[in-house]
Amino acid sequence: MASTSLPYPSLQLQTPTQRSSNLPSRPFSRRLSLRPVSASVSGSPSDRLDYFYNQGRDEFFKSRIQKHRSTVYRVNMPPGPFISHNPNVIVLLDGKSFPVLFDVTMVEKRDLFTGTYMSSVELTGGYRVLSYLDPSEPNHGKLKKLMFFLLKSSRDRVIPEFHTSFTELFEKLESELASKGKGSFVEANDQAAFNFLARSLYGVNPAETQLGQDGPKLVSKWVLFQLGPLLVIGLPKLVEELLIHTFPLPPVLVKKGLSETLRFLLQFIDHRPRRSRENRSLTRRGLPQSLIRDLLQFLWGNENSLPKHDQVDREIRCQTPHTRLAEEIRTAVKSNGGKVTMAAMEQMPLTKSVVYEALRIEPPVPLQYGRAKRDMVIESHDSAFEVKEGEMLFGFQPFATKDPKIFDRPEEFVPDRFVCEEGESMLKHVLWSNGPETESPTVGNKQCAGKDFVVLVSRLLLVELFLRYDSFEIEVGRSALGASVTVTSLKRASF
Ligand code: HEM
Repeated sequence: MASTSLPYPSLQLQTPTQRSSNLPSRPFSRRLSLRPVSASVSGSPSDRLDYFYNQGRDEFFKSRIQKHRSTVYRVNMPPGPFISHNPNVIVLLDGKSFPVLFDVTMVEKRDLFTGTYMSSVELTGGYRVLSYLDPSEPNHGKLKKLMFFLLKSSRDRVIPEFHTSFTELFEKLESELASKGKGSFVEANDQAAFNFLARSLYGVNPAETQLGQDGPKLVSKWVLFQLGPLLVIGLPKLVEELLIHTFPLPPVLVKKGLSETLRFLLQFIDHRPRRSRENRSLTRRGLPQSLIRDLLQFLWGNENSLPKHDQVDREIRCQTPHTRLAEEIRTAVKSNGGKVTMAAMEQMPLTKSVVYEALRIEPPVPLQYGRAKRDMVIESHDSAFEVKEGEMLFGFQPFATKDPKIFDRPEEFVPDRFVCEEGESMLKHVLWSNGPETESPTVGNKQCAGKDFVVLVSRLLLVELFLRYDSFEIEVGRSALGASVTVTSLKRASF
């Protein structure tokens, strides 16, 4: 669990040897029978249509588990042939086989962040950004170190800037509720998250720059150009298939917006105080541009803002009586002089657990890939499979983190699942950061550099919510890039 002294306790700059824990491959348990990986590869677009429309993602994988009587099998993954030339992957759908994807001694992570295709580097200024780099590439370690530096150097701004940006969000929602009887959480959250990230990481308020309120719109468009081949955005099926699932969208259409956003960010990275010698030398070699793109990629790119809407929805709708959270949060803040501090947040076990449960039940980045570096054996709970060097492995994370052989009541949101020693011992099965929650990002692995930052701001969201309100009501629908959350009632704090 997090320490009380640093906001990001897991940041580590050492080059590690890779994961030590019980990886499923080599040597495999003799009691498991070794079997070939069976296939559902028709080669036709039917898999793609099943995945996007006829079955939907969960049913697509579930029905094939039943067909093959296995959580490990071969399948074609979208997008279409003009975007990805080889859609064939071995899919891993249980909590035992999935973690092989974290072991960079066994899998290569080069150019496969988005899966069986890579979006044009024109969208990232001609650079292969950090998410596409394997730890064996020299720039991976340099860029990740820079990310650690950036996160560490902005740590004092996180709590106050979160308060400022999310107070603006609540005020906006309250005024919409007063005038229209409801307010869009998603729209307000996009703006608040963008402002918070710019203010906390760069020390700048976008509203006082040329960018104004346009940041979230520009970034969403940029994300669509990269992740469009994997999304359903609600257009008629045929149009959507031709427009975003068959051919890549031309990067030139988004270039202007991207340049504006980058100009905004570059302006500030150049003026940041306390630049380290290392940061300066990287600047000369031109790395900050790619760092900035990495930031955007992760701050917005794969999860479309922080915190993710579906997560907020889970956190808000979970069975926890709002009063329990409000009591825990207000008591801890009171006993820390009325201030939200790291020490106060350590005294909130239920709040912490609710955040971990949200990340378990609906991991914000659900698809993970890795190419086998060598021949190996991968174990599921009941079989062992031979995999050849060069084969593409793909894990659909929600099936690993809702594995009934690991978690009780896996489909249920259990707010205090991770409270107490027994609960905490299950954190090794929470995998949202591309690694177990009990492990840390390093320059030698591919675990999310923002792991502790994300957990911290997710907790802060609950803290700010329950300091201000006793309870609230929302309506949830679907939208192209996640959920649409409409707030219909907010009850101000009464105790
Ligand atoms: C809800 C928010 C976030 C989620 C769910 C998330 C998830 C992930 C995942 C799954 C990966 C691994 C991707 C792969 O290789 O398959 C990753 C990598 C990464 N994340 Fe995050 N992330 C989040 C926010 C952030 C933030 C706020 C930052 C930085 C401030 C960040 C920085 C990074 C970096 C730099 C990498 C690449 C690590 C490497 O190449 O070694 N992420 N993230």
